[in-house]
Amino acid sequence: MKRDRCGELNLGAAGKRVTLAGWVHAVRDLGSLTFVDLRDASGIVQLVFRGVPEARELAREDVIRVTGTVVRRENPNPHLPTGEVEVAVERLEILAKSKPLPFLPEEEARASEETRLRYRFLDLRRSKMQRNLRLRHKVCLAIRQYLDAHGFIEVETPMLTRSTPEGARDFLVPSRLEPGKFYALPQSPQLFKQILVCSGVERYFQIVRCFRDEDLRADRQPEFTQLDMEMAFLEDPEELFSLLEGLVAHVFAETIGVKIETPFPRIPYDVAMARYGTDKPDLRFGMEILDLSSLLAQVGFQVFARAVQEGGVVRALPIPGGANLSRTELGKLEEAAKKAGLGGLLWLKRREQIESPLSKHVPLSVLEEIVAQARLNLGDLLLLAAGPAKTVAQALGELRLRLARERGLIPPDRWAFAWIVDFPLFKLSEEGRIESEHHPFTSPKDEDLPFLETDPLRVRAKCYDLVLNGVELASGSIRIHRRDLQERVFRVLGIGPDEAERRFGFFLRALEYGAPPHGGIAFGLDRWVMMLAGESSIREVIAFPKTATGACPLTGAPAEVDEAQLRELHIKLDLG
Ligand code: AMO
Repeated sequence: MKRDRCGELNLGAAGKRVTLAGWVHAVRDLGSLTFVDLRDASGIVQLVFRGVPEARELAREDVIRVTGTVVRRENPNPHLPTGEVEVAVERLEILAKSKPLPFLPEEEARASEETRLRYRFLDLRRSKMQRNLRLRHKVCLAIRQYLDAHGFIEVETPMLTRSTPEGARDFLVPSRLEPGKFYALPQSPQLFKQILVCSGVERYFQIVRCFRDEDLRADRQPEFTQLDMEMAFLEDPEELFSLLEGLVAHVFAETIGVKIETPFPRIPYDVAMARYGTDKPDLRFGMEILDLSSLLAQVGFQVFARAVQEGGVVRALPIPGGANLSRTELGKLEEAAKKAGLGGLLWLKRREQIESPLSKHVPLSVLEEIVAQARLNLGDLLLLAAGPAKTVAQALGELRLRLARERGLIPPDRWAFAWIVDFPLFKLSEEGRIESEHHPFTSPKDEDLPFLETDPLRVRAKCYDLVLNGVELASGSIRIHRRDLQERVFRVLGIGPDEAERRFGFFLRALEYGAPPHGGIAFGLDRWVMMLAGESSIREVIAFPKTATGACPLTGAPAEVDEAQLRELHIKLDLG
């Protein structure tokens, strides 16, 4: 359709005859004069109709085509890029009427998410959503540019495949041709990308959909997109880190025009857990947790002494300006800490005098030493917790985030990246079983190999996460590229030779025919775009997301299917 663009009209076009097509964004009817804001993808421009009766019938979201002349506006609108002009319409054509709207797109806050998703075609017309879609497109473009320039090629991998070991539940697809058998939708292309590097694709990437049947959160969807990458002849993660720091800086510069400082800090997992109480620390602010175990084990206060004797820790979280917290507020924090598994929470305020319930049990000189170690300023608060390291870390980590947020201590417009390295290779499941911390193809650190069978929980992995402002943006590892080591790791995980052959035989074979050392990473693309867009949910940057219960209100999926379809698949339902 030959047409001009609404958003591009300005005084330079005054006097020009234009044809525009778009959606009716607003109508103001003044009797003999009707003003209409017309919207297309490029922006909004005001139309003015003089004595055109059909114009008075126009309603929000009708689609029209008009021809008219661009004229200078008597009352310019400084809020609109086209605000100095309007189009005096000579010809109006209604291309499609809209029914009355279930909600006004710009009042999305008043519509439920269910309604917004059900009428996603209206919701997406909002300028913010259009901007988010465009941003996502730009991010993908910038990624492809950069990776192409660095010798990576994009290769597609199957969607109908075997179960992959990322640790979530699979989505299954029944096979019609082989009754009783199922494909699984990939939780990630992990094994395919490793096979690709074994196939001579030395630098692979893919912007790819992954499927995981897990409980949803603001930054999780059952289908989401990864920027998935793998490199042959990668032994030292540093090589990958510098390449990816370049990628991240390129994407930020190309999409939102922000210059990112590189290199990013590298923080060992143990340090992150101790200092920030989490493996995805938000480094936009300080409030580092400090360890007071050795200072406080011997001061004669039972709670501390017992915790340390039992192999636990005493740690403290400084809250700048927190001395003004009331007893009630402190009580609430203690409740939160108890919910996180701690026995209690102690506090210390640096006022003119040191104030703390501890002063009954601990000499003043020790309290002064705590104040010195924590570098407390006048008016600061210190929260102290004792117990098992993991519980203390988690509780103080949560309080650190919560208080920083509540007290406005997180500076805006900061991009704080870090590589978290040296993760443990294994973790204990709730049932006490040994599981992979990342996935079973992650290489142990060479110096920890001797403990693989004897003390597996001590073994660290060649594994790394990229964290941005407290969000895990990407995760990857150097892989095991020799079958013997892969089988040792499987054994520790309790995966015997038969099971290994059944589940991963196809992959183990690829390791037997000349597999180069290799490694890679995957970024959560939705999370990345969410952060660039300044959104707090990935649903705002996915065109057609699922609700928290995994439903798609637009299509009504998941839905029942015909009896005949089930019969063809040899499936009988037992919903009892
Ligand atoms: P991992 O499982 O850590 O690693 O996933 C990589 C990144 O993907 C994002 N992510 C998600 N985003 C939205 N919704 C979800 N449900 C979801 N799950 C994960 C996160 C995460 O950091 N194959 C390995 C990567 C590798 O080793 O190369 C993998 O998938 O941002």
